[in-house]
Amino acid sequence: MKFFIDTANLEQIKEAQALGILDGVTTNPSLMAKEGITGEENILQHYRAICESVDGDVSAEVIATDYEGMVQQGEALAALNPQIVVKLPMIAAGIKACKYFSDKGIKTNVTLVFSVGQALLAAKAGATYVSPFLGRLDDISTDGLNLIEEIRLVYDNYDFGTQILAASVRHTMHVVNCAKIGADVMTGPLSSITGLLKHPLTDSGLATFLADYAKGN
Ligand code: E4P
Repeated sequence: MKFFIDTANLEQIKEAQALGILDGVTTNPSLMAKEGITGEENILQHYRAICESVDGDVSAEVIATDYEGMVQQGEALAALNPQIVVKLPMIAAGIKACKYFSDKGIKTNVTLVFSVGQALLAAKAGATYVSPFLGRLDDISTDGLNLIEEIRLVYDNYDFGTQILAASVRHTMHVVNCAKIGADVMTGPLSSITGLLKHPLTDSGLATFLADYAKGN
């Protein structure tokens, strides 16, 4: 399972990268705005900095909602670095643009996916990644994990190469449950990754080992 971090915060990206287990980064316009990154040039520059801070794929989202605009913005993003994955919204123009980029060998991530039918269309358009938003479905009392399970079933039925990128992951149990049901990738905040490190028996066990070692030295 690949681990992506879902942030535009360079410090957090570097912290996750330093752990040695990071496979990439996802961003979105809200995460960029949260870091105070505004204006086209600053946003492009920030994507360059993210690519330099991480080994692996970096999803960069288009803002246009029409096909021509998506193609233009996606090409500008893809030209920044081979690590860039063009992130496209799950609307008709996004699917059409996804097909355009897949035919050109440019990686894509179809985002804002909330149904199996949408995921099927993204796979048909040759998406590299499809992003079902697990946490946002849970927020409205719908089973987000169930959506990922159903997409897994459909993709396996037809051997689609599109990778299921479990997005909107909020906590460690989302990560563990996504791994159990076969999501290819998860993207979440730094806390959803570092939280996996923690267990009280690890802490108490280590404290005992160190104390026993100290007794003999
Ligand atoms: C995915 O690519 C999105 O950036 C993200 O996972 C959305 O997460 P949220 O629902 O916590 O905003």
